[in-house]
Amino acid sequence: MSSDAASQLDAIRQGYAFEGPHIVLGAAVDGGEVVPDAVVRLPLGQMNRHGLVAGATGTGKTVTLQLMAEQLSAAGVPVFLADVKGDLSGLATPSPGNDKITSRMSGLGQEWVPTGYPVEFLSLGGHGTGVPVRATVTAFGPVLLSKVLGLNDTQESSLGLVFHYADKRGLPLLDLKDLRAVIQHLVSDEGQEDLKGLGGLSRSTAGVILRQLITFADQGAEDFFGEPEFDAADLIRTTEDGRGVITCLELPAVRDKPVLFSTFLMWLLAELFQDLPEVGDPDKPKLVFFFDEAHLLFRDASKAFLTAVEQAVRLIRSKGVGVFFVTQTPKDVPEGVLAQLGNRVQHALRAFTPEDAKALKATVSTYPTSGYDLAQVLTQLGTGEAVVTVLSERGAPTPVAWTMLRAPQSLMGASEASLVEAAVASSTLRPKYAELLDRDSAYERLTARLDQPEESAAAGPTDAELERAARDGAWPEPAKEPAPRRAEPEEESLLEKVVESPAFRSMLRSAGTVIGREITRSIFGTAKRRR
Ligand SMILES: Nc1ncnc2c1ncn2[C@@H]1O[C@H](COP(=O)(O)OP(=O)(O)O)[C@@H](O)[C@H]1O
Ligand SMILES: [Mg+2]
Repeated sequence: MSSDAASQLDAIRQGYAFEGPHIVLGAAVDGGEVVPDAVVRLPLGQMNRHGLVAGATGTGKTVTLQLMAEQLSAAGVPVFLADVKGDLSGLATPSPGNDKITSRMSGLGQEWVPTGYPVEFLSLGGHGTGVPVRATVTAFGPVLLSKVLGLNDTQESSLGLVFHYADKRGLPLLDLKDLRAVIQHLVSDEGQEDLKGLGGLSRSTAGVILRQLITFADQGAEDFFGEPEFDAADLIRTTEDGRGVITCLELPAVRDKPVLFSTFLMWLLAELFQDLPEVGDPDKPKLVFFFDEAHLLFRDASKAFLTAVEQAVRLIRSKGVGVFFVTQTPKDVPEGVLAQLGNRVQHALRAFTPEDAKALKATVSTYPTSGYDLAQVLTQLGTGEAVVTVLSERGAPTPVAWTMLRAPQSLMGASEASLVEAAVASSTLRPKYAELLDRDSAYERLTARLDQPEESAAAGPTDAELERAARDGAWPEPAKEPAPRRAEPEEESLLEKVVESPAFRSMLRSAGTVIGREITRSIFGTAKRRR
């Protein structure tokens, strides 16, 4: 060992010796050998300074996420993770072990006890085994929805006007058909006045948005929007014995809708931001949020969207939430976000093509200087090895360390389907979210005139309410506890008949003179919940 290498190892020993609570990533590698007493750790108190786990496919990113999640749970920190490939459900099953794991752990000289962790399984819109999660269109807001629909900047701001209109009129946009109903009204002859009043929203742009929405719905997207809306506070739970609950959002069934699920993850973050109180810099995070396949979030994103992501990541830190992006290269993450990711675990990168070489160079340039030839090391790293630098307890970057990572104590790969099913069946969240609701909302209100009276007051405003609305210019509030109804396919033509009716027109016109209860929107234009 050269004296340079010896001093580098000393720097690692000292640089990663933390007093407070921390997790253990592994130990330093030197000259191809693991150095068990050069332990590489990550302080819990710095996890809200966010992080990046990067590397080529198959280099160990998902497993790194798994071993971090395990230790966070054991330390009582709740974890959220997006399981894109379905290989993280193994967290609920103790590892059966194998020779490779035994030799890895004996090399590290660290304790290893097969363990299953408390996992809550969710699925997006019920596509998968997990408890279904949904968002209302109103809460999702125009910026995120534009991203999902692939709208350009002009169309995005036009969609913003549509939300503004619906917010002002107190027209709840719960599901996609609500939004369609409102836009359809605006592009109809009867909606001309309203459209004019909105300024900046052209009939042709509204038409384009409407067509996009219909295509989107045809792809089966209806299931992801509506009620009951997921309450992000349900991500922050611990078990009776003090372990953090790991919430695993299963995404394999919606892998063909990457923009939808990545945007949905961003919505969850925005929700957390709104719900949580300021905590400053706590000794351990309230929640750590792992954002896998993060490149999908940023690809083709509008400026407004990127600015909002940057802001959300910056602000959520003070709520004690850590966000770890998982992606192939740091280049996948925009500058403004990357600059905020204080903790780095960089797995091997390939250097086959000139493109690869460029990405490698860019990655190296984002690291603090060190005794390593990083461009060399990054292409030499074995599976489950990484170049690590984190923030010390004082918030300064730790020395760059070539690290052999621990093996997870739970199963690498998927848990048995029966285990996941049993976990979902006994989930405490299931009664809250399993059944889809179809409450009185914009669609029903815009079609209410044709509803039969026996539909009950909960299904829509009564005639008397509508008349009062026409007179006072205020929309009737939905019933407090509306009876849940199962969603049914409805005919568009109903709406056309309604908007042609004089009563409806007069109601809309007069409603326009009174500002109802406009919804306040925060970052991303997501709606502030009125809880
Ligand atoms: N820390 C580790 N300990 C043990 N095995 C690992 C570790 N990291 C990766 N592996 C092995 O490498 C395989 C690929 O890792 P994975 O995390 O799925 O790669 P990625 O997510 O980067 O595509 C795993 O299935 C596992 O067999
Ligand atoms: Mg992976």
